[in-house]
Amino acid sequence: MAKVAMKVNGKSVSREVEGRTLLVQFLREDLRLTGTHVGCDTSQCGACLVHVNGEAVKSCTMFAAEADGAEVTTIEAMANDDGSLNTVQQAFQDYHGLQCGFCTPGMVMSATALLKDNPKPSEREIREYLQGNICRCTGYHNIIKAIMAASGQDVASVAAE
Ligand code: FES
Ligand code: FES
Repeated sequence: MAKVAMKVNGKSVSREVEGRTLLVQFLREDLRLTGTHVGCDTSQCGACLVHVNGEAVKSCTMFAAEADGAEVTTIEAMANDDGSLNTVQQAFQDYHGLQCGFCTPGMVMSATALLKDNPKPSEREIREYLQGNICRCTGYHNIIKAIMAASGQDVASVAAE
């Protein structure tokens, strides 16, 4: 067991963890932040995506101990301060960018990271960026529209399904 300390959603936390504990397990099981999902065991789906020191990271690919001292942000911290949906979340709702919602936390975290680096991505850039996020319901079309809309761009040009 080793002690890890990090800031999660702006709050300092510390726990004893086993060396093999993944960051996603730490978030879900130790901190009960269950908005971060586990959708595969092959590091492919992106449902577990969080931000570590501002960078998008699949939290199933990192040990909790490796995040010692880091700042971690999960979907639970993405809403506006008044609890309303933020721009990206609202766009997912407005453009029906989700169905079952299982992939959605990872999609929102991924989209947010993309827009931080590239505030007006093209449709192709969005599709390429989301290659690490699997959605088993939507066919991606409305997710792309939502991200275009969240970045203030016209969604009419998004290629038809
Ligand atoms: S659970 Fe991490 S990529 Fe699927
Ligand atoms: S909305 Fe169901 S997996 Fe994406």
